[in-house]
Amino acid sequence: MLLRRIHDDSLSQAAYLVGCPSSREAIVFDCARDVDRALKTAEQAGLLIVAAADTHVHADFVSGLRELVERHGVHGYLSREGTMPAWASACPGSTTAVGDGDEIRIGGVRVRVLHTPGHTRESLSFELVDAEGAVRAILTGDFLFAGEVGRPDLGARSGDRHELERNARELQQALRRLADMPDEVRILPGHTAGSLCGRSICALPQSSLRIERQINGSLRAAGDDGAFLDKVLRGLPDPPAYFVRVKRRNLEGASGELRLPDRLDAERFKHAAAEPANVVIDCRAWSRFCEGFLPGSISAPLDRHFANAAGSYLEQGDGVLLVCEEHELEKAVRILFRVGIDEFAGWTTPAEFDAIPEEAFDADGIEEIGATEAHRRWSSGAAFIDVRLCGEFEAGHLPDAIYAPFSQLPHRLAELPKDRELIAYCRSGGRSARACAYLKRRGYRVSNLRGGYWPWAGRGLPVQSGAPADRSQC
Ligand SMILES: [Fe+2]
Repeated sequence: MLLRRIHDDSLSQAAYLVGCPSSREAIVFDCARDVDRALKTAEQAGLLIVAAADTHVHADFVSGLRELVERHGVHGYLSREGTMPAWASACPGSTTAVGDGDEIRIGGVRVRVLHTPGHTRESLSFELVDAEGAVRAILTGDFLFAGEVGRPDLGARSGDRHELERNARELQQALRRLADMPDEVRILPGHTAGSLCGRSICALPQSSLRIERQINGSLRAAGDDGAFLDKVLRGLPDPPAYFVRVKRRNLEGASGELRLPDRLDAERFKHAAAEPANVVIDCRAWSRFCEGFLPGSISAPLDRHFANAAGSYLEQGDGVLLVCEEHELEKAVRILFRVGIDEFAGWTTPAEFDAIPEEAFDADGIEEIGATEAHRRWSSGAAFIDVRLCGEFEAGHLPDAIYAPFSQLPHRLAELPKDRELIAYCRSGGRSARACAYLKRRGYRVSNLRGGYWPWAGRGLPVQSGAPADRSQC
């Protein structure tokens, strides 16, 4: 059996290509919508992708399953435990619904389906079995990660404790099904460290049941009814706002090819940015952004927060204008495409951007202020916004700070006062910088606390601890 892992560093997501060395046919699991990457990987391995399957309806990236089926003649396998999307029902000969115990054969490769609900109801895992039927590896999707299990809250209605507990119980039952499997079984998870589909995933690219039985606290707690719920429902970080849009998109099925946008000169970029339907995603460093930016721009340097910030602050249908270096363009477009952003109105380089006359820039800009100045403004009525994760907030936050994680802001605007100055902060000033630009775009008066929480706390200025008011615990 040939196995290739296709890893997306920006989303900490893994797709897998499994091929038969004799027939040279392959199946791809959890392929993102820029399917050219998987097709190229297969070609380089001398394989032809004839089948594709998703472990579940993803919330964090748009799947390429529909694109593979409709435009590349690939047979699609979907979970029988979920609702069959309209596009799949429309091409019955090209798709098959599969469920627990079913087997998929690709040449000499045998793949057995295991229903592993909990993260979502329809979640499937795929066992790679040998000629004797023994399980060698399991593609676990968002069911089991290295050191963690899939969070059970993403498929539940917000605040519905009953649904949350039911999902957690299903997850527990599914984990118990692994008990009889040998230690040697390899675990090929759908995510690595950094993904928000699990609370704290380890940095291992893959694992084994032996390792998981030693390090995975949630798997170990699966035998204990009382401990398990607490283990998997506590400390879940708020998911980025874009998860809602992507989940909806995957339920419909997305199609369409990735195309790079046109390069614009300074004049054309300035005009395009003035169109209400367009939004500038400015990938320059925050220090350069603060020197001058076009009104309404979103600040999103191409680092590990890019997908969560740009993906959450954009709406489907926004015409994206990118400011980035030429070597960053394809990466930025691919990430946005994967989180469901399809419309690109153009791009330009930072050097070309500098040719835009200053009169076109945002007149007020965004201020960076130090701890002493922030304290003075807070004493005069300004409000703090903490844009970190819940656990960070609980450990210590600035006085009366409003809890609003940076990638959740579009869902929390109603909680933010427009009649007061806001001072955003995070751990070091990076996430809050993105939040500042977004809030400015939304019409708030906002400054960024330079250096974040620690310069404030280090000066002995007042801090508080405890969970946010709308969360009993983090
Ligand atoms: Fe995921």
